Formats: sequence, structure tokens, C-alpha cells
Amino acid sequence: MNGLNGPRAIPVRVERVESITADIRRFTLVPAQGGSLPAYSAGSHVVVTMRGEARTWRNAYSLTRAAGARDAYQIMVRRVPASRGGSAFMHAQVKEGSELEISMPSNFFPLARLATKHVIVAGGIGITPFLSMLPELAASGARVEMHLCCRPEDAEALEALIAERIVGGVAIYTDLQDVETRFGTLLAAQPPGTHLYTCGPVGLMEGLAQVARARGWPESHFHQESFGGASHGEPFVAVLAKSGREVAVGADQSLLEALEAAGVDAPYMCRGGACGTCSLEVLEGEPEHRDFFQSAAERATNCNVLPCVSRARSARLVLNI
Ligand code: FES
Repeated sequence: MNGLNGPRAIPVRVERVESITADIRRFTLVPAQGGSLPAYSAGSHVVVTMRGEARTWRNAYSLTRAAGARDAYQIMVRRVPASRGGSAFMHAQVKEGSELEISMPSNFFPLARLATKHVIVAGGIGITPFLSMLPELAASGARVEMHLCCRPEDAEALEALIAERIVGGVAIYTDLQDVETRFGTLLAAQPPGTHLYTCGPVGLMEGLAQVARARGWPESHFHQESFGGASHGEPFVAVLAKSGREVAVGADQSLLEALEAAGVDAPYMCRGGACGTCSLEVLEGEPEHRDFFQSAAERATNCNVLPCVSRARSARLVLNI
């Protein structure tokens, strides 16, 4: 079955499961029916459909092999103790030999080809989109500076993944420090034409965006990737204006997941608030925006909500669907 109104589904078999750290596993996925998988570009992800007994999850994961791999894909999944269930399902239920469905690859986090230099800042599992980018940057001889913030116990394993893909090493930070103090001078010192890429916890990404803006970086020169995980919140009711139906959105469910569970054919691509594909018009109520797609001015109008990550501040949110 295709993932409702999402990208076309590809059946895959889990060929290998490896522990990278205590709570990060790498899954190697091969085509379930033989043949080749679609080619993808550096920075691409797939959406994995996980069918549990009581509910279905769809999470986006970066493809971590160098772009061009078609015999097998690899994804890395961190088990989040307080997760909404998708990562826990991948760790507890998915074994070598399991079958899954993935979407066609898509890419909302491409390399900026005209950049004179690439500065990458990753937080923990946020290294994953860069694992397909680094070999391409190395092969093209691009200027790259890589920074990784992570827990001390993860540093060695994550550094090893980066080291085999980069020329020139990586700066690793395992202590807590505010973003301005850690990266303010670094961003101020970059040559014109440098592009900044970030993926990791929201606080790190928002902090870097603020620091970059304060240093006069053009918006077009910084790029963020965010995958799910931002959907916990207060329960609310989505009202579908065209039919009058009411859909309850649980505390551990995204609005998009609640709509899908109710059989609504809602479009999506990234499921991480980055692409805008899932945008729905809001007729009444106040959205709580958690996306990276709309500008601050667009968010302030509250005209649209991106249901893959955003929720409602009001008890009811009336949508024009
Ligand atoms: S699916 Fe991409 S922003 Fe929601």
C-alpha cells in the first residue's frame, strides 16, 4: 500500500542491524523483491512506515551511505526513551529479515553547489544527513569544516563514522555551552560565500540560526534539517470544515498522524516540518508552529499549519479540508 497520500512505497527487507552506540542502531535495507533501489542525492531521506499492532508510525530517516548506492540503503535510528513509539518500534521489533515499507527518497537538504565553503554543525544523531554529504564534498575537494556536539559516551563511535568520510577531521564538543559562546566567533570568521548546515536538537538549530542572523548571514546561506520528534503536546481537536468531522489529536500523536489514523488522505513528504507539502489552511483556532518551512511572517498570520510537526494552542483547530 502506498503511504496514504505520501510518496510511492518500496518494500524492503532488513539485511543487517548493527549497534553503533548504546541507543543508535544502523539498519541496512535491501529491495524485498530484488533489483535495485532508486538513486538518491546527498542529503536525501526516506519515510519508513512501521506497522505496529495498534497503530502505524511513519518516520523520516536520512540515507547514510554515499549518494549513488542502489544495492542497499542504510539508515540510523536513535531510540528515544520518551519517543512517540516509532524509534522504540525500530529497536524492539525490527530484526534482520524483517520487512518494511519505505518511501521513494526525497531531498529537502541538498548541498549548496555554489558555496565557497561548507560549515557543518551536527548534534548527536543529527550527523545522519551529513554522512551521505561528506563523501561527495571530499570527492569534489570542497572546503569543509565539521563540528559535532554529542554526549561523551557517543563521541568515539560518531567520530569514527565521520572520520571515514571526511578529509581534515571534526571538532567534537561533549560539554554543555550556549550556542553563542561556542559558535559566535566561528560564524563571524567565515569567508563570504560560506554555507552553514545544521541538524540536531531544536535548541541547537534555532540558536545557530539566531547567531548567524546576528552576524549578518543571508537566510539563503544557512540550511536546517529536522526530523519529527517535535509532536508531543497537549491534546486538541481538529475540525475538518468540509465534512464537519472532528478528529481528536492525542498528546503523543502528531496532527498528521491523527488525520491519517482517521482515514484522511493528507499529503506529506518530509514529515519534519521542512518541505511544506503537508500545509493545511487554518480557518479558526491558533496553531502552535513547529516547522522550519514558513517564514516568521507567515507563521504570524496563522493562515496555514504544517501538521507533520505543528499542533494547536487552542482546544480546537478548524482546517479547510
Ligand atoms: S511533510 Fe514536509 S513539512 Fe510536513
